[in-house]
Amino acid sequence: MDCKILIIKSGGWAFLLLAVLVVFAQANDKIVIAHRAASGYLMEHNLPSVTLAVAMGSDYIEQDLVMTQDDQVIVLHEPTLDRVTNVAELFPGRERKDGKFYAIDFTLAEIKQLHLKEPYPNSGRFPDNNKNLQLTVPTFKEELELIRGLEKTLRKDIGIYPEIKQPWFHRKEGKDISMAVVKILREYGYKSQEDKIFLQCFDPEELRRIHDELFPILQMNLKLIQLIDDNNGDETKSLQWGEWINYNYDWITSKSGLRTLSSYIAGIGMDKSMLVDKAGNLLLPELVSDAHSLGMVVHPFTFHREKELLTSYVTTFEELLEFFYFKVGVDGVFTDHCGDAVLFLQNRVPATAVEPAAEPAVEGDVREILPAQPTVAPDLPLSPVMPPAIPVDGPGVTPVAVPEAAAVTIPQPPVSTLTPEPAQVPNPSPASVSDPQMVPIPAPVSVPEPVIPSMSLPSEVKSQK
Ligand code: G3P
Ligand code: CA
Repeated sequence: MDCKILIIKSGGWAFLLLAVLVVFAQANDKIVIAHRAASGYLMEHNLPSVTLAVAMGSDYIEQDLVMTQDDQVIVLHEPTLDRVTNVAELFPGRERKDGKFYAIDFTLAEIKQLHLKEPYPNSGRFPDNNKNLQLTVPTFKEELELIRGLEKTLRKDIGIYPEIKQPWFHRKEGKDISMAVVKILREYGYKSQEDKIFLQCFDPEELRRIHDELFPILQMNLKLIQLIDDNNGDETKSLQWGEWINYNYDWITSKSGLRTLSSYIAGIGMDKSMLVDKAGNLLLPELVSDAHSLGMVVHPFTFHREKELLTSYVTTFEELLEFFYFKVGVDGVFTDHCGDAVLFLQNRVPATAVEPAAEPAVEGDVREILPAQPTVAPDLPLSPVMPPAIPVDGPGVTPVAVPEAAAVTIPQPPVSTLTPEPAQVPNPSPASVSDPQMVPIPAPVSVPEPVIPSMSLPSEVKSQK
């Protein structure tokens, strides 16, 4: 008998299916941000790793951005090249007094001679034997060109999540990285709140400047994410009485701080340890709901699947994701293991969604022929597995078919449904890309050059948070 008829006969099961779909809809509101691309599988920040993160179904791909000596914007986590390249081998003597090799002291042509290395080869990540691979540091433009191209061939929107790294450091070096980045974004068609991009930065004053000054000049208005650091980090500093002083973020997580942010910011991001302590207690129990009530999303970082990096209140990566997505209630996570996180959201089956309705069976009741449903999420694979193939007949929401009785399982959403838009923010929304299936790379836009003050060289800059 046709399954659809069976379900119509059974109000309980129709309700059950509806509940399942509602739960999937909630799960699908959650996003996966590929932290430094598919860094847990194929090294951080390189073009193959971006392609892998896209193929695994990530909603957003992160780009950390710094500048070169010749004013090119490259995708590199920190201003120094030491940790992820063979720069010391290729350019001995080019380090600064602190012993580090700064990208800003090298031209793009020089940086392109370097090859990437896996910084954590002993933790089960990509083997550090890549002498023949020659993976290189990408420019921001190369990465956007790749992503725009894949959007066209895969016929889906691919989110980007660029981070402007240490504007204070670049300013010290005489460079306006924010202007350089937003000009490139404009050139590649990212202009409005509707575009699938979150532009992130740790520097609150710089984000304010981007919103109040740079966006109006370039006639754009992107969703901005305020990253929140602890007060000891190197991400944000200001020159006070001749000394570079760390920024104090204390005001930002208060209700009034969040309210101030919400007038121009789409969301906040912070280390997950700011939200939850090592025992699993919420440290800022109202933060997520406060942010949501102001229309802001919350995207903590960084989630790894390696057991030694898990905190004591969970035993698996999936438990960690379950805890943050559905107990803490965050909207998305930055993760090195984007493929595993995508699978987690796809496969998640909350217990409340699968309890059979307490209703007497009627003739032909679908329960007579359906196998028992699981009441807990099934075990997930321990190694990354590619998600289902991307549909070839175009993007958009594919209706969830009622499965045939012989093979019934909890319906799985197609990859193309895992690209929800984040919560809208109260900012005005100018023109958007009209047809998401056709995402042309627009002609370069002529924009005014910023006025950059002359500044002195730094004495020391730490390379990493
Ligand atoms: O940008 C947020 C997330 O990436 C964490 O920061 O230090 O990895 O750039 P970081
Ligand atoms: Ca980052």
